[in-house]
Amino acid sequence: MVITARSSGIHSSSRHESDPAIHTLAAMIQIECPENLPPFAGCAFVPTMGALHAGHASLVKQASESGKPVVVSIFVNPTQFSPSEDLARYPRTLDADLALLASLGVAAAYCPTVAALYPEGLEASEKIARELQLPAVATDPQLEDRCRPHHLAGVALVVGRLFDQVRPSCAYFGEKDYQQLRLVEDLVAHSADRFPALRVIRCPTVRESDGLAMSSRNRFLSAADRAAALSLSRGLQATHMAFRPADAERMMQDELTRHGLSIEYAVVRDARTLLPAATFDAPTRALIAARIGSVRLIDNVAFPARDPTKSKCPFAALFGFGTPSG
Ligand code: PAJ
Repeated sequence: MVITARSSGIHSSSRHESDPAIHTLAAMIQIECPENLPPFAGCAFVPTMGALHAGHASLVKQASESGKPVVVSIFVNPTQFSPSEDLARYPRTLDADLALLASLGVAAAYCPTVAALYPEGLEASEKIARELQLPAVATDPQLEDRCRPHHLAGVALVVGRLFDQVRPSCAYFGEKDYQQLRLVEDLVAHSADRFPALRVIRCPTVRESDGLAMSSRNRFLSAADRAAALSLSRGLQATHMAFRPADAERMMQDELTRHGLSIEYAVVRDARTLLPAATFDAPTRALIAARIGSVRLIDNVAFPARDPTKSKCPFAALFGFGTPSG
């Protein structure tokens, strides 16, 4: 049964009482106010903006494997949207989200109000976000930080506040949003006093069977646009043939352009700093952000470090050439 805990206390949700599908689900509490968060000291925490799909579910499953109670937050965070991005259009599917979380055995769904996270008001919170000292990985790479100014500051503000309220011992983030993941890793590493013993756990990107990375925004793609969207994962896949990052970047750009996408970036970067990488000698990450009409999609893949003393082309032996000059 789903139970709601609002500021007035905990009570059964009449909304769900007539719904047999919900009644058969495991117990889960839904909370709006931080004061009502149960004392799940050291829980496993999965922050989300809702409109949940199999990608989110994989984070929840990984969190469950910790053996700790799992808390999932659902909050469409206004401070990470710019005025030109349509916050109102962000999909909201709360009932389906809660049913999914209950079926996954989540202990609590934390669905805070804006006031619960931003008691000083939205305008003041946006100012606080802009004044945050962000780690270099959120200001220097010129990726999401360039394309969506203030986005990562809004993420840093909300994630920090959610950690303060929920007090987890581990928090699960998807590699799908790679710069966000690196930001959270560095935030936590640099704030040992504020978040002692908190571990950030990376979760792999979940894809549709044809390779498209799952995203709450995929629902906005027409059939034709969805087919064109495959050029993100195909472009990323093709880069495994490249000798050098510059070749990989050209391959991705060609693939995206051929399918009519508008490229925001298609780059290979150092996997830790997200700064430009000239070789594949250290671990790198290929990252894409591109638009199809009004839909913005991002995706990325990892390249493990290649041994610089060996050939950089996986098919070099077949073609009879050895170690390239780089
Ligand atoms: P949201 O887009 O809802 O994503 C919540 C978490 O799910 C993030 O860690 C994201 O990387 C992960 N995720 C999304 N799609 C995924 C996929 N296909 N495979 C694996 N993981 C995936 O990211 C946010 O919300 C917000 O910025 C948030 C961190 C909650 C702060 O507001």
